[in-house]
Amino acid sequence: MRVLITGAAGFLGSHLSDRFLAEGHEVVGMDNLITGSPDNFAHLIGNPGFQFIRHDVSNFIYVAGQVDGVLHFASPASPVDYLELPIQTLKVGSLGTHNALGLAKAKGARFFLASTSEVYGDPQVHPQPESYWGHVNPVGPRGVYDEAKRFAEAITMACHRYHGVDTRIVRIFNTYGPRMRPGDGRVVSNFIVQALRHEPLTVYGDGSQTRSFCYVSDLVDGIYRLFLSDRTEPTNVGNPNEFTVQQLAEAVIRLTGSRSRIERHPLPTDDPRVRKPDITVARSVLGWEPAVQLEAGLQRTIEYFRRLVS
Ligand SMILES: NC(=O)c1ccc[n+]([C@@H]2O[C@H](COP(=O)([O-])OP(=O)(O)OC[C@H]3O[C@@H](n4cnc5c(N)ncnc54)[C@H](O)[C@@H]3O)[C@@H](O)[C@H]2O)c1
Repeated sequence: MRVLITGAAGFLGSHLSDRFLAEGHEVVGMDNLITGSPDNFAHLIGNPGFQFIRHDVSNFIYVAGQVDGVLHFASPASPVDYLELPIQTLKVGSLGTHNALGLAKAKGARFFLASTSEVYGDPQVHPQPESYWGHVNPVGPRGVYDEAKRFAEAITMACHRYHGVDTRIVRIFNTYGPRMRPGDGRVVSNFIVQALRHEPLTVYGDGSQTRSFCYVSDLVDGIYRLFLSDRTEPTNVGNPNEFTVQQLAEAVIRLTGSRSRIERHPLPTDDPRVRKPDITVARSVLGWEPAVQLEAGLQRTIEYFRRLVS
């Protein structure tokens, strides 16, 4: 197979490129580098199966030759990024998804959308099954990301139903691992970098809000299985083991051997109180189950950040 991966210079897109190449496929990576970095695919330069095209997918997408899959991962994804880039986030979720679907339709390729648990907003159902429609504030600051992804899901289903495009939608829950950016504002990278620098760990609110953290190799495995499956409805992929943010902070301090203490800051607007995937569907339809426990995943991630932060 030859697949296009948008957002290939990002955290998840680069790991996904590695996986497709390891499975013997060809990868065309596309990215405008707005939040990603060429460092993330530097190891693939010279690999005959890999090609990189620098392009903003909110503009018309052209790829020469056969394309069997279009995996649309381009989008600012961390709260810091999408709050700084609200219009670009809305554009890549709407126009970018439209363009990526257009390419899939023209090439007869399978389309795969990277959606998010943020479509559930601040959920009133816990854990969140795919059948839950969510609780999103469309006009709050986070609405730019949440609503862009909700639109992306809607246009994906519309192209599936109306044009017969072969589509898949994954709802990704918090994922962490090597190649996250220091300072990208995500809780795991924030805490690790702060701990390695022996700076205070910034916990928002009282730290009792929960998150479930999926290690990147587990997530990529779920995505790969979903891509190859027949399931067209949205599918949650994430680790259902739930931790409070306070517990995460304490684990990071312990595993890094840091002298950092925990510092409390006000909760950001519309910050979800709880977040935990119901993965019944992924288990039964994909035979997928996360394999990496939080402590093991944190250790691998800490090793990566130790090389960057000194
Ligand atoms: N990491 C997570 O925990 C998580 C959770 C839910 C959903 N997701 C989704 O997964 C995808 C990848 O997220 P990530 O964590 O790798 O983020 P990332 O910021 O590391 O990667 C996103 C990539 O998309 C690129 N990009 C953004 N706008 C673009 C545009 N208009 N044209 C071309 N490239 C563009 C960026 O330069 C970057 O390389 C996103 O769609 C995100 O919404 C991620």
